[in-house]
Amino acid sequence: MNTNNESTKKYKVLFVCLGNICRSPAAQGIFEHVVRENGMQDKIVADSAGTYGGHRGEMPDRRMRTAAMYRGFALTHQSRQVSGLDFLDFDLIVAMDDQNYEDLMHLAPSVEATHKIRRMADFLQRRKMPYIPDPYYMGVEGFALVLDLLEDGCQNLFDAIVKAEF
Ligand code: 4NP
Repeated sequence: MNTNNESTKKYKVLFVCLGNICRSPAAQGIFEHVVRENGMQDKIVADSAGTYGGHRGEMPDRRMRTAAMYRGFALTHQSRQVSGLDFLDFDLIVAMDDQNYEDLMHLAPSVEATHKIRRMADFLQRRKMPYIPDPYYMGVEGFALVLDLLEDGCQNLFDAIVKAEF
């Protein structure tokens, strides 16, 4: 973790999907859980946002909230759209799929800012997939798959941040 000799400055991670009502708020909730479990909440914080603003202000999708709750994750985020200012505010921006990644690359205000963008799939170890699939038009098994992937990816992302890999 690069603290840049500002020991009180928190490392900020933003998770991004399309609608910010399924994948990215789930990633945020799971990642925050891992951070708390490791007592790092004073050093690492998370937020989430969508490339599409049509669900602005909404709670996460009820199907995702229910599936996450069964695993012990309470999702309370309210949807918001990602903005160019997020590239100034956050240290790392994690895209759920390739379209999110491309949209973020176009939104980034500078070449330097593009270096903050990562794919969540790059942190998968247990089950490799090229992207986190959009569960919106899937059944219960789609939401379970997304949570399986995110539990693995968030743990590995956390480990990488703590090991100062960025
Ligand atoms: P998310 O899922 O990107 O994981 O939040 C979606 C939510 C809403 C829509 C698509 C995907 N939508 O088309 O409204």
